[in-house]
Amino acid sequence: MKKITIAIDGFSSTGKSTIAKQLAKELGYIYVDSGAMYRAVTYFAMQRGYIGAHGLDAASLIGALDQISLHFEFDPELRVAAMFLNGENVEVPIRTLGVSQQVSPVAALAEVREKLVAMQQQMGAQKGVVMDGRDIGTVVFPDAELKLYLTASADTRAHRRYKELIDKGEQVTYEEVLKNVQERDYIDSHRETSPLTKAAGAIEIDNSDMGLKEQLERILSHAKALIAS
Ligand code: CDP
Repeated sequence: MKKITIAIDGFSSTGKSTIAKQLAKELGYIYVDSGAMYRAVTYFAMQRGYIGAHGLDAASLIGALDQISLHFEFDPELRVAAMFLNGENVEVPIRTLGVSQQVSPVAALAEVREKLVAMQQQMGAQKGVVMDGRDIGTVVFPDAELKLYLTASADTRAHRRYKELIDKGEQVTYEEVLKNVQERDYIDSHRETSPLTKAAGAIEIDNSDMGLKEQLERILSHAKALIAS
């Protein structure tokens, strides 16, 4: 059967990964969480001391990019395709608010994007892939057959993320999560290289008040129509 590429973009915590995983499962496609890759590079920079009180030492990070090796591997305990950084499973630390607070300036670096976009394009070269991020429909796979642009109010998104972090046992306040969501929205959509924007031809879905089942059915019917065409 014909395989397609599904590109999902949108602001932080719009539920991109939830729908992406559901679609991949229904269609038997692979799911790639491109945000995990930017988070892993950020975690690397933090561990190396390239991010501190002075901000981000971009030159040092760019100089060390060839020392970063990334791959996804199934983690039977977490039941996800976990992000591995230089052989270490970093799935838990990359999801913390601490990493979320540093990731956007790292993701704004053209050199970082160049490296990760090349890897993402390779992962999706055979099609049959669902990838979510900020520039998937605009830069990574501009020819994707199905492009989605998810939105929801900042308040809805911050509540979702706050609940996720609290459920994982992180000590965070709703106010700091909301601030982080808003700051990332701003940086991600105003950066010079590949800013977040709705791709041409993307279907926009505001899921503030939409149930997961309704959203999946709607998108799945688009995908199936494209596969059959
Ligand atoms: O899960 P959440 O929506 O909070 O974010 P994510 O998808 O894990 O992405 C984390 C950060 O990585 C974003 O805020 C962007 O700065 C960056 N990112 C990007 O620039 N391009 C992508 N394709 C994916 C993520």
